[in-house]
Amino acid sequence: MPSYVRAGALPHKRHIQFRRPDGGLYAEELFSTKGFESVYSLLYHLRPPTATLEVRPWQRAVEPLVANDPLRNRHFKTQTLSGGGDAIAARRTILGNADVTIAVADADRPMTAFYRNTGGDELIFVHRGAGTIETPFGDLAYRAHDYLVIPTGTTYRVLPSSATRMLVYASSGSVTIPRKYRNEFGQLEEHAPYYERDFRVPVLKAPVDAPGEYEVLVTNGGRSAVYVVQNHPCDVIGWDGYCYPYAFNLDEFAPITGKLHQPPPAHAVFEAPGAAFCAFVPRMFDYHPLAIPVPYNHSSVDCDEVLYYVSGNFMSRRGVEEGSITLHAAGAPHGPQPGAVESSLGKTSTDEIAVMIDTFAPLQIGSAGTACEEPSYFRSWIEVPAG
Ligand SMILES: [Fe+2]
Repeated sequence: MPSYVRAGALPHKRHIQFRRPDGGLYAEELFSTKGFESVYSLLYHLRPPTATLEVRPWQRAVEPLVANDPLRNRHFKTQTLSGGGDAIAARRTILGNADVTIAVADADRPMTAFYRNTGGDELIFVHRGAGTIETPFGDLAYRAHDYLVIPTGTTYRVLPSSATRMLVYASSGSVTIPRKYRNEFGQLEEHAPYYERDFRVPVLKAPVDAPGEYEVLVTNGGRSAVYVVQNHPCDVIGWDGYCYPYAFNLDEFAPITGKLHQPPPAHAVFEAPGAAFCAFVPRMFDYHPLAIPVPYNHSSVDCDEVLYYVSGNFMSRRGVEEGSITLHAAGAPHGPQPGAVESSLGKTSTDEIAVMIDTFAPLQIGSAGTACEEPSYFRSWIEVPAG
């Protein structure tokens, strides 16, 4: 919801009669958040989105989560997980808490049913692959290194055109642009690492006029159901407002660099209740003549820090590969592995891409996380004596 957008045909006032060519009324839908208190959009459907033919249980396995106990730093080699399926069936939960769950998905086929998460916004990072997300707001094309922000309540289908590796953060609240980047009117400030024109919005297509039976998988904070609706969800003739799915590609991120090491908040991209999202992209290193490019040792005593490694040479991390996730747990110290500081000296730039989430409540571990854990990671900071 970076700014106001309008698409397609709209009546000149909201909440007035707006008629189809056949004389019938378009069905206006208020797509709201936080009740009626926060950002919203108005959509005009050919027919009411409420026509529900059937509600069935969604036989969906609930992922058990176990505590990170004993508390330690962990490495999950998610690239070793086997799987596949559509973008929802393929999700495998690695970590989670009451604020956010973190899953990976290797989507290798299009969704046939639609999906709607009404329990909070989803933030999807596309590691590899391309395709389209079909929504009532229009088609949102995606490609590698896109962040996709899907507002709670959005009905959508993921249609990959090539096998797609996704990292899925499912929040229990709203995923927003950090307040520090916005002025009093919400516009992005000059010091922000991105600008409004960097965000891509759905392209509205001709409304699908085909009453029939359409499945929508609905989930809300642990409750779920399969709705069979009469009208195609993408039968929208026009919409406007501040709430819609959008994409932001990391190629557009203009990283903030400095004379000395910049801490993660300098790389913030989004935020959500109990979570902060950062992105580390190709950039020039610090320019002090004695600067140390890799981070210092530290313990994030009030948050769990989760990095997903996308591409490049992960200079400060031993043993991680593309698709690895490291969990640096609250209170457990971490930093560059032995030798990383010396070998970083004199380097002027990095080509690495990694995305991070910090959570302010402890994360628990999903069964897929346990299945792909490299259990000795916490020992990777031990100095190995020469010879
Ligand atoms: Fe850290």
